[in-house]
Amino acid sequence: MGERGDLLEFLRARLFRLVHRGTRGDVDYYCERTRHATRVLELGCGAGRILGLIAEQGTPIVGIERSPFMLAAGQDLFGSLPPHARVELGDMRTFSFPEPFDTVIVPYNTLFAMETDDDIRACLRHVHQSLLPDGRLYLDCYVLNETGQSAPSPFRKIDTIIDAGRRIEVWEQEGQELPGRRFDMRYRYRIQNPDGVARVETDVISHHYAPPDVLLELLEQAGFEVTSRFGDFDRTPFGPDSVIMIIEARQRG
Ligand SMILES: C[S@@+](CC[C@H](N)C(=O)[O-])C[C@H]1O[C@@H](n2cnc3c(N)ncnc32)[C@H](O)[C@@H]1O
Repeated sequence: MGERGDLLEFLRARLFRLVHRGTRGDVDYYCERTRHATRVLELGCGAGRILGLIAEQGTPIVGIERSPFMLAAGQDLFGSLPPHARVELGDMRTFSFPEPFDTVIVPYNTLFAMETDDDIRACLRHVHQSLLPDGRLYLDCYVLNETGQSAPSPFRKIDTIIDAGRRIEVWEQEGQELPGRRFDMRYRYRIQNPDGVARVETDVISHHYAPPDVLLELLEQAGFEVTSRFGDFDRTPFGPDSVIMIIEARQRG
């Protein structure tokens, strides 16, 4: 990756940590669901927002993360994890571990970081192979309303990051649904160096959106049985007005 690509990855990692603080109730939910687990795998653990707290409650956990920048952004946490917790660079479409897990978690829309339904299939297949026979999968993702976003919204400033003397304004344009169920979030970073010289970098973070019926079908194809579906981390049942979907699944019979 070139210097510009590195800077964007670095900004993404910083941005994620500073701006994307999760969905209300998600940390408590994942901590509660893993409290008595013997070995947990988190896919796309990012900078360890959830993994760190699961480790803190004494639960053995491994996190995999594709972005070295995200791992670097979490280095202060990862460097001081207890012995029963660790993170690895890895891809959630291709991972394998010699020892199975009794719990796999995929928090905070991470399944939509896949590029295609085939990627989601590959990921779920690997989850299936990595779970003990009575193991559990927990994941959550957003649900778009039927009309979706047809027109791009204006950019709005969401944060200012000060980093190594640089002042970085972060501007975000809300996602627009594109053909192929692609959902793009656009970012502009106005980067002002200590000498006052400023430039603008742009970035796109793409999601591949799977509506609830498609996701359920993909889980079924991968050999999972959905045991619960919630529309909120307070365990409200999933319904037509839900804006998130929390899925609990196990291997089918
Ligand atoms: C929405 S973030 C969630 C981070 C963390 N789980 C949390 O809840 O704060 C998704 C994470 O998945 C990572 N990711 C995306 N594609 C991945 C892949 N193929 N394999 C592993 N990690 C991936 C991203 O780099 C990002 O850190």
